[in-house]
Amino acid sequence: MVMSVTVEKIKSAEEKKIFVRDKFAAISNKYDFLNSLLSLKVDMYWRWVTTRQLKEFPDGSVLDLCAGTLPLSLELTRQAKKRTVVAVDFCEDMLRSGLKTLPDDERRNRIGAVCGDGEEIPVASGKFWGVTVAFGVRNLANTEKGLAEMYRVLKPGGKLLILEFSRPRNTFFKPIYNFYLNRILPKVAGLVSGDKEAYEYLARSIAEFYEPEELQAMIREAGFSDQYCRPLTMGIVTVYVGIK
Ligand SMILES: C[S@@+](CC[C@H](N)C(=O)[O-])C[C@H]1O[C@@H](n2cnc3c(N)ncnc32)[C@H](O)[C@@H]1O
Repeated sequence: MVMSVTVEKIKSAEEKKIFVRDKFAAISNKYDFLNSLLSLKVDMYWRWVTTRQLKEFPDGSVLDLCAGTLPLSLELTRQAKKRTVVAVDFCEDMLRSGLKTLPDDERRNRIGAVCGDGEEIPVASGKFWGVTVAFGVRNLANTEKGLAEMYRVLKPGGKLLILEFSRPRNTFFKPIYNFYLNRILPKVAGLVSGDKEAYEYLARSIAEFYEPEELQAMIREAGFSDQYCRPLTMGIVTVYVGIK
């Protein structure tokens, strides 16, 4: 049965999954363009910083979860010439969009795309030196289940990197950012993508997401050690790191 769910009607984990998958499918062709436009390309810097945290594993295999249109997978293969990436996402349209626009160089041979759920990652345990998730954890229906899976697929000593939106705390910057996020961004992105609801969901999901301290506690709870986090760009995003 084909179901469609609106943001107000999300009541269960299953409904959130349907909503999230549908919304990303609807904007998949415009996702990269809108990311660059709405962040003025600062998103590329955030992915660069995140990927740098994996420099001690230059040739191991990395799982890029919630990989979407593959921007982080690309950065992972750009920074390390021998690294291979398995890119997992449950929205086939996002992966297809990313595969279509991969640059015509050898990196396309080092990125394998797999359609699958991050809460039941379709790979064997203990296979990867790194697991990365950029702007995906907030979209999971069950964060604990996702973190447990990230832990399972890492090798002992492997590293988890999560890049996720957070909420700026600076009293001067916070109202400006909130005005942009709640008023300007959905209008602009709605006009370009034709799906305003997807970007209202973005603002809402950022507002409702865990505080960095809460997410850090959950990462530790999932079994990760040497856990720390680093806010970037006035706390618009935060990079979380943990070791298995
Ligand atoms: C905001 S996009 C991030 C894409 C990319 N990582 C980036 O850096 O731009 C979030 C992605 O998470 C995926 N996603 C959400 N929940 C998921 C789940 N349970 N399993 C797999 N992918 C999921 C969505 O399909 C979407 O492509």
